[in-house]
Amino acid sequence: MSKFIISGGQPLKGEIEVNGAKNSATKAIAAAILSNEEMVIENITLFEDVRQMLAIYRDLGGKVTEDASAKKVLLKLENLKKMELDKDLACKSRPSILFVGPLLSRFGEAKIVEPGGCAIGKRPIDLFINGFKAMGVAVTDNPAHNEYNFKGYPQGGTFIFPLVSVTATETLMLAAVLARGRTILKNVAQEPEIPALAGYLNNHGAKIVGAGTPVITIEGVEKITAGDFEVIPDRIEAGSYLAMAAATNGDLLVRKCQPKHLEVPLDILRQIGVKMEIGSDYVHVIPGGELKAIDIKTHEYPGFPTDLQPPFTVLLTQAQGRALVHETIYEGRMFYIDKINRMGADIILCDPHRAIVIGPTKLYGRELERSPDLRAGFAMVMAGLIAEGTTIIDNIYQIDRGYEHLEKRLRHLGAEIIRADAG
Ligand code: EPZ
Repeated sequence: MSKFIISGGQPLKGEIEVNGAKNSATKAIAAAILSNEEMVIENITLFEDVRQMLAIYRDLGGKVTEDASAKKVLLKLENLKKMELDKDLACKSRPSILFVGPLLSRFGEAKIVEPGGCAIGKRPIDLFINGFKAMGVAVTDNPAHNEYNFKGYPQGGTFIFPLVSVTATETLMLAAVLARGRTILKNVAQEPEIPALAGYLNNHGAKIVGAGTPVITIEGVEKITAGDFEVIPDRIEAGSYLAMAAATNGDLLVRKCQPKHLEVPLDILRQIGVKMEIGSDYVHVIPGGELKAIDIKTHEYPGFPTDLQPPFTVLLTQAQGRALVHETIYEGRMFYIDKINRMGADIILCDPHRAIVIGPTKLYGRELERSPDLRAGFAMVMAGLIAEGTTIIDNIYQIDRGYEHLEKRLRHLGAEIIRADAG
């Protein structure tokens, strides 16, 4: 397995362009099952998570033509070979469960294993199962093999989410597009990737109203066509780099981003004392801010995103004062903190959801074992860039899942970081 070797102390300087959002591109691939026509996904970055979804799509019978240099993939489902997701691929990919919606919509059947994803919590799928049942789908499971069978064409129905789920919202929305009747989904997720997906589907014959609000209503239609899907900029990648630039007292222009998708994180950075110039499609972090501790509480969109909690927690180790970081979404998303503390940070982990960051503290490079998830991995790289001395991060597969060529992009910004094969 590869590892990163980082020599800290260099402020980031320069500019980067934000990639297309990983958590938008993966959903568009699932949506390609809804039509036999060719779908073109533009501004796609072939992160590991995206490659896994493309592999599942191919395995189901879809034809994939990649043009990585043009950041484009062409998808065409000529003939569906099967309705069971490849076990080895699906068990590593949380978004794999999105295929169930379109498979049921078009073919009335789907079979999956429990989806994988980051080790940031239990990651149950009860909301998906109860949502499909509310749409008249029969669900049977085989706990011994972690398998789930879904049978029946989704009928219109009403489902009230007891808690907000991004991928469950997207999956049930996809299931409802070709359902027989009207579907009303309440207490749904409002992340920008959801209106982006609904907008594409509506441009090709779907009838979806309310995406981006707490209630989505979908009138089922006979069929939809396919066409161009432009992936929106990755707001989490943009926010991650902004925190990294601020933590290194850098001078970084983050281009091709959507500041309007980052209103709360940008306001937190402003309150912390990060100096920034914000345009319509860029954010410029300027050095010299006096950083002070500000409490952070994660919340579903448009609140502070859980995916930015790890980078912002590391930023807070460089701020003056005490900050409470409250991770409300996942029970397993603070287990990187012990690694940052071993570098010299002073973070009290009160419980699996709360930590108190006391700063500023000097960080010192050291060898760190694998990251529990991709956002924690990015935060560990950030700590390495801040620290005095050398930091080694093993098994960086998790980081590659959501940050493309991280070491190349950071070297371009003046960081001293290399990728080496472990051993
Ligand atoms: C999506 O995960 C993102 N992944 C995650 O990003 C992100 O952290 C998360 O939304 C929250 O914003 C993708 O879009 C592929 P949830 P998702 O269902 O949909 C509970 C990254 O770093 N829940 O919104 O899986 C769940 O346990 C990744 O890019 C149930 O209880 O998250 C969690 O506590 C990590 N039952 C809460 O809901 C269910 O059936 C929110 O999870 C489903 C979820």
